[in-house]
Amino acid sequence: MQHEIPPLFIEGNSVEDIHDIKGFEHYAQNKLPMNIATFFSGGAGDEITLEENVSAFDRLKLVPRVLKNVEKRSLSTTVLDQNINFPLLIAPMAFQQLAHPEGEMAMAKAAHEHNIMIVLSTLSTFSFREIRVNSNVSSWFQLYIYKDREITKNLVQLAEKAGYKGIVLTVDAPLYGKRVKELYNPLTLPSGLEVKNLQDAGLDLKGISTAKLPSYLASLLDPSISWNDITWLRSVTSLPIILKGVMNPKDIKIAIEHNIDAIIISNHGGRQLDTSLSSIDTLKFIRDSVEGKLEIILDGGIRKGIDILKALALGAKAVMVGRPILWGLAAGGEEGVKRVLTILKSELDLAMALCGYTSISQINEEILFFPNK
Ligand SMILES: Cc1cc2nc3c(=O)[nH]c(=O)nc-3n(C[C@H](O)[C@H](O)[C@H](O)COP(=O)(O)O)c2cc1C
Repeated sequence: MQHEIPPLFIEGNSVEDIHDIKGFEHYAQNKLPMNIATFFSGGAGDEITLEENVSAFDRLKLVPRVLKNVEKRSLSTTVLDQNINFPLLIAPMAFQQLAHPEGEMAMAKAAHEHNIMIVLSTLSTFSFREIRVNSNVSSWFQLYIYKDREITKNLVQLAEKAGYKGIVLTVDAPLYGKRVKELYNPLTLPSGLEVKNLQDAGLDLKGISTAKLPSYLASLLDPSISWNDITWLRSVTSLPIILKGVMNPKDIKIAIEHNIDAIIISNHGGRQLDTSLSSIDTLKFIRDSVEGKLEIILDGGIRKGIDILKALALGAKAVMVGRPILWGLAAGGEEGVKRVLTILKSELDLAMALCGYTSISQINEEILFFPNK
């Protein structure tokens, strides 16, 4: 359903006048320069997975329970023993200063205010140290494995030293996906924008112009990464390892054999392999393979609190949210991200109550309609 989005930021208007994630998307897409809007919102290939991530949530229907006294409710939960006020983490996303000058710093402060966790991208524009010094937010560090293992090791160890509590290894990007819209509207980074984590870890960017940086960084990814690198990663850090981008039951089995602490069911927001299964359908497909042996987080297509409820009903411990955070940043920096989080939290609270639940631990698959059962 299309609804009227109020004209924003005319006099007297603020992010408080935006009431859903679609409103933030609409605003950000109109405000941002074309190539940045494309970089944020676009996906791989024909964007089949990108669209399915969202529509598969809507196809999954609810059969709520009633008369359960839902007057008093709590949304708090834990992810790998970290307490959070509601089951949401902010997904790692590169170059957040493209959305707002305060970039990841604003995102981290908003997350801290809500007492949820963030995953900071290797390609953040504020360094992991700057984020830790300026915000007490509970955080994991997202890692890409680069051909240069020394730089990769330095990244991990600097993050550990800075107080990050987990390493999220992205495993669905041995190569950069074919993002067709980006090819027509290439991302050129404005001068002054830096990838400080990589520079702190020893990457020499002499002779690489900011404009050429995105493609140069993509060329550093190591396509030879394999399960052997998990063993290597364990040898350089004592932090929990979380694999982001696992989708196949066979890989889940191998992850369990490698004592992985948690997996993130993710198709990279539809940015890597087009026509891969939507995130929520993947969760349905793989959940029996997990056998309760590791925690599951899901990302891709979360745009409403109801989506979070459905992911939890299928067995996810929490969800991660990507683009809505960038749209919030673009609309209003820290206040914009806070508002996005408030909307998702209050929508989840309402959905939970309308399904007869008063706590996160009660949520289960009895409220999901499976037509073939
Ligand atoms: C602009 C943008 C940049 C991203 N950068 C990274 C990254 O640096 N590392 C990573 O593991 N995933 C990255 N992702 C993927 C997200 O972590 C996440 O998997 C995805 O955005 C979730 O889907 P959603 O945007 O529909 O919520 C990025 C996504 C976007 C939209």
